[in-house]
Amino acid sequence: MSKIKKPLKIKIISVGNSEVGKSCIIKRYCEKRFVPKYLQTIGIDYGVTKVNLNNRELKVNIFDMSGHVFFHEVRNEFYKDTQGVILVFDVTDRSSFESLDDWINEIKQDLEANKHGSIDNIVFVLCANKIDKGKRVVDEGDARIWALTKGFHYFETSASSAAGVNEMFETLLNEIINAFENGGKPIQTQTSLSKDQIDAIQRLKNSKDNYERLGLKFGCTKEEVNNSFRRLAKLLHPDKNIHPGSTEAFKILISAKTDLLRNFS
Ligand code: GTP
Ligand code: MG
Repeated sequence: MSKIKKPLKIKIISVGNSEVGKSCIIKRYCEKRFVPKYLQTIGIDYGVTKVNLNNRELKVNIFDMSGHVFFHEVRNEFYKDTQGVILVFDVTDRSSFESLDDWINEIKQDLEANKHGSIDNIVFVLCANKIDKGKRVVDEGDARIWALTKGFHYFETSASSAAGVNEMFETLLNEIINAFENGGKPIQTQTSLSKDQIDAIQRLKNSKDNYERLGLKFGCTKEEVNNSFRRLAKLLHPDKNIHPGSTEAFKILISAKTDLLRNFS
């Protein structure tokens, strides 16, 4: 029989621009329902939910923040002792994706200014929300790469259809328990991308021609094409990188190399 562990009190918060769906994601998880009408959070909403996970009872305190600039002073009061952050953007609103760094900076600056601890002790998950809607403008590959560079877990979610919501909470709570058992320090379970990998993926996806994609100049030799291909293939091989950004980049790489080698046959 497995041993019952001591109950644990957990504090998580939600952040991200206004209207990205923070309150709806929390409502979906806690109340299993979706409200299509927008009810703006005024300052902070607070709720508690009890969860049983891996033979442990959790009392999860959720502080659902308003995403409005106006409420910065109110949010500032509640960052202390946070163990988990649900960072949310809306896949149909690019500016909500572009604001993610500002949200991390707000938390970091408030914690530092008030000597309330380090952001490195907080577990982050990123929700790419509203995937049920058409008109998506933020690509899954780009968002996953952003999350990987930060070492955050990434979920595609819909508060409306419930896609990804339970999985996201389960991962977040499990990571917080792991951090607690590790003396309060989150354990890095995400394999993050190196700077070389990110640069290579972005260059392959955004370049105008095959020479640029492989980091070569027009007029290069066959040997230079092969060498560059080998170096990039090592960096991006799908066996090592199981996320869409690198798989797509790997396909572009193969096609670019094949096209360039035609010039030498
Ligand atoms: P603030 O409290 O102002 O910071 O906003 P919020 O991030 O809490 O947004 P909220 O959860 O209130 O949702 C904003 C609007 O988006 C509401 O009209 C929701 O019904 C809608 N919404 C939220 N999540 C989803 C989703 O996954 N799919 C769709 N289609 N609509 C969603
Ligand atoms: Mg809200």
